[in-house]
Amino acid sequence: MNVKHLEVKNFRNIERTTIDPCDGVNIIYGENAQGKTNLLESIWLFTGCRSFRSSKDSELINFNSKTANLSMDFFARDRDQNAYLEIGEGRKFILNGVKMKSSNQIMGEFLAVIFSPVHLSLVKEGPYERRRFLDIAISQLKPKYAVTLSQYNKAVAQRNVLLKDIQLHSELYDTLDIWEDRIAFFASEIIRQRLGYINKLSFYTDEIYSGLSSGKEKLDISYNQQTLVVGDSKQELYENMKNQLYQSRKNDLITGFTSVGPHRDDLSIKIDRLPARTYGSQGQQRSAALSLKLGEAAVIKNFCDVQPVALLDDVMSELDTGRQNYILNHIRDWQVFITCCDPTAVKNLKYGLKLEMKDGICKKR
Ligand SMILES: Nc1ncnc2c1ncn2[C@@H]1O[C@H](COP(=O)(O)OP(=O)(O)O)[C@@H](O)[C@H]1O
Ligand SMILES: [Mg+2]
Repeated sequence: MNVKHLEVKNFRNIERTTIDPCDGVNIIYGENAQGKTNLLESIWLFTGCRSFRSSKDSELINFNSKTANLSMDFFARDRDQNAYLEIGEGRKFILNGVKMKSSNQIMGEFLAVIFSPVHLSLVKEGPYERRRFLDIAISQLKPKYAVTLSQYNKAVAQRNVLLKDIQLHSELYDTLDIWEDRIAFFASEIIRQRLGYINKLSFYTDEIYSGLSSGKEKLDISYNQQTLVVGDSKQELYENMKNQLYQSRKNDLITGFTSVGPHRDDLSIKIDRLPARTYGSQGQQRSAALSLKLGEAAVIKNFCDVQPVALLDDVMSELDTGRQNYILNHIRDWQVFITCCDPTAVKNLKYGLKLEMKDGICKKR
């Protein structure tokens, strides 16, 4: 998967610019607020996902325009393709001349992973962010997982309502069993998928983090269940989960909330055996978040045999030269876009292309 040519019009502060990136490392450097992140954001939108930093599409359009227009030539599925995106009242996608019915239709055509400072929350914040990371990553590989997850969440919400209703109507107590059965059914699949995914992911994050830290530090990721639900098969997980729900009834009836299950679980991230969230330095936390993102890309590569484009926003800051060099020179077998302020970080670039972003115009240097 490679971006060959990109034209950006009236997108944020970029009124008009074009780039012809190389297939390896592309460095976009420039002072603050010149439009570097905006450029990465414009590429990211071709995945069909929401922006990683704006919930409103209207914010993406240049203040002096009514629409933003993006056109990208890319190479995927062994052929040259073109995608066009107009952002106005809504989003309009055209893929190889064919208008897409919805944003969902473009998903999977252009694959990318994005790492930006907002993704540091993966390491720094609470479990919600990490569950979201896992759930989105798995859903991309297995769309059926997203359906299971939504059925699970609905079943948990129903049990929660019931827990409160039972306070007034004790005769409803027996109906708990129906919802717990559904919850356990979906939960067993979710837990199984998450365990499988983390198992694959850790293989890559291990290697990447070790490379980043020149072999001096060790990153360990694992599935951290708030209440242990174990089993070698889906059936065992199901039975175990059902039992846990049953055990938690007394407590859950008091709180009105389902206290066990994958909606409470977490992805544990440890560096040299210590939780990265509480003990990691800025640079270690950044390296850990970056390893997760690059690991995610490697799993996609392994699963779909497609190397997604890597978009790395501001990844160099707070990293020492060893770590910077690893990023610049060891992630060469796929196309990467890296933004940075300090062009001296680029001095160590052995291969690749340098682009300078100034006032929304990107030029080859
Ligand atoms: N819709 C918009 N129209 C015009 N300018 C915008 C819009 N949205 C953001 N900007 C401007 O873009 C600039 C930030 O660009 P950004 O890509 O984040 O900079 P950096 O080069 O530091 O990554 C800011 O000056 C901001 O005001
Ligand atoms: Mg930026």
